[in-house]
Amino acid sequence: MNKTVNLLGSTGSIGTQTLEVCRKYGISVNSLAARSSCDMLIGQAREFNPTAVCIYDEDCYTKLKNELFGSGIKVLCGMEGLCTLAADSNADITVNAVVGMVGLRPTLAAIESGMDIALANKETLVCGGKLVMESAAKKGVKILPIDSEHSAIFQSIMALRGERGNQFKGIILTASGGPFYGKKAEELENVTIEQALAHPNWSMGKKITVDSATMMNKGLELIEAMWLFDLPPESIEIVIHRQSILHSAVVFSDNAVIGQMGVPDMKIPIQFALTYPERYESLSKPLKLTEIGTLTFEKPDFDTFVCLKTAVEAAKIGGTAPAVVNGANEAATALFIDGKIGFTRIGELVRGAFDEIKSTDITDISDCLRADRKAREYVNSMSKAELCSR
Ligand SMILES: NC(=O)c1ccc[n+]([C@@H]2O[C@H](COP(=O)([O-])OP(=O)(O)OC[C@H]3O[C@@H](n4cnc5c(N)ncnc54)[C@H](OP(=O)(O)O)[C@@H]3O)[C@@H](O)[C@H]2O)c1
Repeated sequence: MNKTVNLLGSTGSIGTQTLEVCRKYGISVNSLAARSSCDMLIGQAREFNPTAVCIYDEDCYTKLKNELFGSGIKVLCGMEGLCTLAADSNADITVNAVVGMVGLRPTLAAIESGMDIALANKETLVCGGKLVMESAAKKGVKILPIDSEHSAIFQSIMALRGERGNQFKGIILTASGGPFYGKKAEELENVTIEQALAHPNWSMGKKITVDSATMMNKGLELIEAMWLFDLPPESIEIVIHRQSILHSAVVFSDNAVIGQMGVPDMKIPIQFALTYPERYESLSKPLKLTEIGTLTFEKPDFDTFVCLKTAVEAAKIGGTAPAVVNGANEAATALFIDGKIGFTRIGELVRGAFDEIKSTDITDISDCLRADRKAREYVNSMSKAELCSR
């Protein structure tokens, strides 16, 4: 296929699956970026021969530079390097598959240079959705969702393109419910990191897998959907669908519901974002509905999954509230993954930051960064005392 990509987060779950799609269709890779997985990035650079690579962690820069010496591949590092790669218009599209709000600046840099974006990095829209969507509209840049639910919504809307009167009024956002579906708060107090990482349907990076266990992921996705599809939170219904077959659906003005189904495999939405508006044969298995048998739909348990409840409240408040909730979640989840706090503390810390830090309007990126910093400071100061007393 005659297409070229910049790929940020190439060593992660979405990044490596994107490269599988590139391999299959002969999509060229103009640039690759990672945080600190230096050896893997070197291997990818040798295979795909990009014009440039970037490693965020400056400690890895010298090793990367030495290993790629003589290859003709330009080596960059840090946030500046990431933004340079994101904005490199020698590619047709920039895939942002980094994890966390660190993806916001590269997204804005890509938009500024007029690059279309295939977006997996949901934290970009949670923290800076207003800035991203406004500048994308101004520059005429397409934001193609990779998140499976948002790709499903996008595909459902696209399926009716050209029809008259196809205004949609709402979204059904499906959620697997994660590994702790059906459990109550008291049963979650002593769950381990291994249990939190055992997702029933999807194989993903650690942070998003824990986000699925706390159900923060669905709260982040609700905010992501608000920005992508220009809907208020009240028009988005979160529905637990254990089988992860219906990836989400759109409700039209006449109450017709159109959704997208498929096996739970991220290569389907990744491929669609890269080949859009064309469709090609897929690397993933076909869906056999008779093998699935039953599809179930239930209401989420907002009382047990405090992160979800808090994210939805933040969505309703707007301004910097989603950035606060996201920053607190990133910090608390990292502490949980490092074994420093228990699972239920994630929700308590996210709630605490949300209650403590007032939301303000967003006029530029410094507002998002300030809210994120305050939330992280809150989590780190609240957890410091308990870490010392352990
Ligand atoms: N995985 C999924 O199935 C899935 C589905 C839907 C949406 N998403 C979203 O996609 C994003 C990526 O998720 P993932 O599961 O692929 O995460 P992951 O497996 O943890 O991979 C994250 C990638 O981002 C890179 N990265 C992290 N911080 C960076 C930085 N500061 N600069 C440059 N690169 C950086 C990592 O590099 P290192 O390897 O060097 O750390 C890695 O390549 C998240 O926003 C997630 O919510 C993921």
